[in-house]
Amino acid sequence: MPDFLPSELVVTPKGGVYHLDICPDELAHKIIIVGDQDRVEVVSNYFDEITHKNQHREFACHTGLYQGKEISVVSTGIGTDNIDIVINELDALVNIDLETRNEKKEKVSLEIIRLGTCGILQNEIPIDSFILSTHALGIDNVGHFYERNVDIETQKLEKAIDEGVKLPKYIKPYLTKASEELNNKLDSAEIKKGITVTSSGFYGPQGRRLRLPLVENEMLDSFSDFEYNGHYFSNLEMECSALFSLGSSLGHKTTAICLGLANRRKKEFTKNYESKIIELIEYVLDKI
Ligand code: URA
Repeated sequence: MPDFLPSELVVTPKGGVYHLDICPDELAHKIIIVGDQDRVEVVSNYFDEITHKNQHREFACHTGLYQGKEISVVSTGIGTDNIDIVINELDALVNIDLETRNEKKEKVSLEIIRLGTCGILQNEIPIDSFILSTHALGIDNVGHFYERNVDIETQKLEKAIDEGVKLPKYIKPYLTKASEELNNKLDSAEIKKGITVTSSGFYGPQGRRLRLPLVENEMLDSFSDFEYNGHYFSNLEMECSALFSLGSSLGHKTTAICLGLANRRKKEFTKNYESKIIELIEYVLDKI
């Protein structure tokens, strides 16, 4: 019997993974993930050559060469539920033989960089900053479905956060680290860094109150005010926790660099979204 039966791992008639609808030879091992499917083309327009293009639902994938580097750009849509699909299927493309349905002995470690947008949690971080995640704190639930292997330092920081921040009572936060190797490539003097909060939504789960009252009105301030051994929360968004948690458990290198659109403390929103996203794309393509 194969390791993975058709009910667990769906393979398309052309031999690809189900939701992404791509085949193993269509994927590069260096991958930029973006939320917005229309942004895939904005990135691949920089490629010197495009070798593959497809789209199924919100998952678009363009693979090509940029200055001699083979890169795939994949859109994930919004949220950690979509990240669960994307990371499992990217891993299956390289580490499971889709013909025999058996796990491969020799594993491939992908480099996966999220290029996204976020809200800012600190007064000192101006809108339009590029923010590199050192860690992600999940206040979603995807990471809780998988066994996790977390080092002692991260466990201590997770405990301090659990005790120090104010969350609705049913939310159990989980902390994971970004790849230091990828962060070293993406870092530079103008880049801001910190812990990224990953929420399960844009409004209430990020402390935005429109017409519905929230059960915990001090959540956002408790993130902004938190500090432990030099660690602080820089930003919040909707994908990093599942990306870092599942990605690192599967042996991949994962990180995220995001454009800060809204400063939630100062109540400011960017006027430079389009030009700054282009700047971030060019920055990431040159660094990775
Ligand atoms: N993306 C988010 O998830 N939150 C923001 O505030 C801005 C972008």
